[in-house]
Amino acid sequence: MSTPEQLYEGKAKILYRTEDPEILLAHFKDDATAFNAQKRGEIAGKGDINCAITAHLFRQLEAAGIPTHFIEQVGATEMRVQALKILPLEVVVRNIAAGSLCQQTGLKLGTPLSQPLVEFYYKNDALGDPLLTRDRLFLLELATPDQVEQLTHLALQINQLLSQFFGQCGITLVDFKLEFGLDREQRLRLADEISPDTCRLWNQTESDPDLRVMDKDRFRRDLGNVEVAYQQVLERVLAQAMQ
Ligand code: TMP
Repeated sequence: MSTPEQLYEGKAKILYRTEDPEILLAHFKDDATAFNAQKRGEIAGKGDINCAITAHLFRQLEAAGIPTHFIEQVGATEMRVQALKILPLEVVVRNIAAGSLCQQTGLKLGTPLSQPLVEFYYKNDALGDPLLTRDRLFLLELATPDQVEQLTHLALQINQLLSQFFGQCGITLVDFKLEFGLDREQRLRLADEISPDTCRLWNQTESDPDLRVMDKDRFRRDLGNVEVAYQQVLERVLAQAMQ
């Protein structure tokens, strides 16, 4: 069999072309980066874990009516996905103050937000993925006003589904990042991944602010036991089906 042609290599995944131009193969890597790749490392088994968690969540989101790029998982670290034109946006949804929201607003870590906050960041490594205002987003023509409305609606729907799902797993969904793309019909679809790399997940049975962390903050902040935490998220996710 010939080696598949690499289309794109990101920090956590590689996308390969397939014989069908409409379908790509996404390979999940063990590589981990933080702070715009200033910190680099490897989380053993992360590729397998994030591929399995993403497959499970995308399947369930599809079943709940959210269009995604997911087709099927075809190996421990591989899934077939629909080829999309990815929007250069990171859509972040927050339920509880953490991370850059605390750093930029002074809100105390763990403050519950009165309603979910949807934010748009410019997916641009050279610029450090800056937070966008709506006007800047339109200035740069990163999406149309109609698309921003649809993205906000989808992000809030996904937040509701995922918050409920993780809640059933005994996990609080603090915040998370989504990416979207346009299919051939110019329809928005959820792309990329949903995993402990892209979410903040707190174990509800732990009150200690460091011990409760089950996501990439363990790597970012050198909290240790990163692999164990990711594995625990996978086990809980696989044991639970979305209602
Ligand atoms: P932040 O608090 O650092 O802005 O992150 C918000 C959420 O987005 C958090 O769940 C981690 C996720 N995230 C990514 O998936 N990729 C990124 O590059 C960044 C900065 C955050």
